[in-house]
Amino acid sequence: MPSNSAAWLTSSNTKSLEVKSAPYPTPKANTIVIKNGAIAINPIDCLIQDHPGMVFPHLKLPFVIGSDVAGEVVGVGPGVTRFKIGDRVLGQARGVLKTRNVSSEGAFQAYTVLLPDLTSQIPDSLSFESAAVIPLGLSTAITGLFQDDQLALQLPSVPAKPPTGKALLVWGGSTSVGSNAIQLAIAAGYEVFTTASPKNFDYVKKLGAVQVFDYKSKTVVADIIQALKGKRTAGAMSIGHGAAEACFDILDKCNGDKFIAMATYPVPSPPPQSFVLLQTISYWVSRSVLYWLRSKARGIRYKLVVGDALIDNGIGRAIYQDFLPEALKGTFVAAPSPHVVGKGLEYI
Ligand SMILES: NC(=O)c1ccc[n+]([C@@H]2O[C@H](COP(=O)([O-])OP(=O)(O)OC[C@H]3O[C@@H](n4cnc5c(N)ncnc54)[C@H](OP(=O)(O)O)[C@@H]3O)[C@@H](O)[C@H]2O)c1
Repeated sequence: MPSNSAAWLTSSNTKSLEVKSAPYPTPKANTIVIKNGAIAINPIDCLIQDHPGMVFPHLKLPFVIGSDVAGEVVGVGPGVTRFKIGDRVLGQARGVLKTRNVSSEGAFQAYTVLLPDLTSQIPDSLSFESAAVIPLGLSTAITGLFQDDQLALQLPSVPAKPPTGKALLVWGGSTSVGSNAIQLAIAAGYEVFTTASPKNFDYVKKLGAVQVFDYKSKTVVADIIQALKGKRTAGAMSIGHGAAEACFDILDKCNGDKFIAMATYPVPSPPPQSFVLLQTISYWVSRSVLYWLRSKARGIRYKLVVGDALIDNGIGRAIYQDFLPEALKGTFVAAPSPHVVGKGLEYI
């Protein structure tokens, strides 16, 4: 049996993870084991490292965190028919979820246990480094766009669905979440309007956005309202600080669906260390009440995007199984490009 090693989160007071041995995982029912070829990091990993008790109170340290992996299947559990040994895959590791809560399903190790509904085969032409940028960004976009309690858009297909005639606003198109959201929405038949810094205008247009606006411009809200005149909106996905506020103002002046899937919640996160707990709580509560009142007054609904349900609600499977493997052979690209920092768990 091969040996496994992991970059363990051993304490919330440490600024580094500890690389040491970990149990070699055997695949249980309805899971697979992959040998990781590449691992990616996300903002949430830093947040968990600094405040594990705040983000996932159930986590008992030491624990193996991390979401994004790509590699080769080395073990297939009972009940799994879609994967075989040797398949090249990408997947979202979900070990930190309360319903999973196991280090064997964390990304930051040599071998990771994955759930088939959040795993896709990838073409030989796609490197593990590129593939590893996809999972968490994709899952967040999937949740916001397609889940029943979010924007509930129609699902994408290969080739793309015929135009629905509806326009979707993706605020923050150049982020990892936004890059996936643009491509998914286009494949589902929506016209995408987005924001980015000017240096990324061509990038988001190549992903399929029809129009892009500089989110730092003083006239950006007015400009998008003008561009959406005469169109029916499918709602908005807000990504990045300030995004939710802008989407409120834009949808208020548009025709169509008035729902915001909020990838970035419009309250500061995480609270500064020096903040007194009571101040933080009262700040969050007052901001949340303010948003609720604003949304009621304007008839705009919104919800924070939390991807936990994808492991078994069928939406994860609809994309990771029925859409992505085929889409990656065609026009769906792994974006943004990976920034590779080194080889080995020490580099995490
Ligand atoms: N709810 C969830 O489950 C979930 C999951 C993943 C991520 N998120 C959140 O989604 C956001 C994006 O995460 P990510 O990992 O996709 O980010 P990322 O890939 O690190 O995005 C970086 C890019 O964000 C853009 N950006 C920076 N500030 C922005 C702003 N105020 N408005 C719009 N775009 C801005 C910049 O693009 P330009 O260079 O073009 O300016 C920057 O290059 C974060 O707030 C993250 O916490 C939420």
